[in-house]
Amino acid sequence: MPIKVLITKNYDELSEKAAKIIADAIRNKPNLVLGLATGGTPVGCYRELVRMHKEKKLDFSRVVTFNLDEYIGLPPTHPQSYRYFMNENLFNHVNIRMENTHIPDGMTDDPQKTCEEFEKAIETAGGIDLQLLGIGANGHIAFNEPGSPFNSRTRVVEISEQTRKDNARFFQSIDEVPRQAISMGIGTIMEARKIVLLASGARKADAVAKSVKGPITEEVPASILQKHPNCTFILDEAAASKL
Ligand code: F6R
Repeated sequence: MPIKVLITKNYDELSEKAAKIIADAIRNKPNLVLGLATGGTPVGCYRELVRMHKEKKLDFSRVVTFNLDEYIGLPPTHPQSYRYFMNENLFNHVNIRMENTHIPDGMTDDPQKTCEEFEKAIETAGGIDLQLLGIGANGHIAFNEPGSPFNSRTRVVEISEQTRKDNARFFQSIDEVPRQAISMGIGTIMEARKIVLLASGARKADAVAKSVKGPITEEVPASILQKHPNCTFILDEAAASKL
């Protein structure tokens, strides 16, 4: 199925559209299994979900979540860990049960086992109903950098230099950006029943265009989404400018 593309005026509208899709999915299925992303792009969507919880009683009490990735070596108390990010931006402000939130443990001393258990937990939950994604300027999804096998599963990955540079804005210096992460695989992501990818800003325009209408190649990880039966890109005008 071709990727469905929704172009919004700006970041606020993108965030509202994404939050509405998630809210509708939760109302349809209160025990939704929801895949989540971190990074700058989904922050507005999470803010909107928090507002809907407070003002419209959007109920997270039975929602189960799985995050795409976590840095190796950052504890949950580290402000740049993805666990900390999720707690700050969403979980602490809605009525989700913390035991229903799953993020790979970046401090594990047995990464292999952690990855296997993460995959098992997704399976036990019944699979991911709706997966939210961002996209890297190099076309990565989660921390599946260019060259990642399309059939990859949750595993330890090396973070590319470009992505480390891109993410350095969140750290004091690039030296502090971890070199490895635990990431859901592309095969894992493709099993989600519905995928919504968010991209904002001109920096993402190339990766978005290649993913939507370029050849399907492991050099552009998000290009595999052209093969997903139910995938929507929500873009602002700048991110859509090369389509
Ligand atoms: C985050 C993740 C990454 C980001 C991507 C875009 O969990 O898996 O793939 O979605 O790097 O990041 P931002 O939104 O900061 O541009």
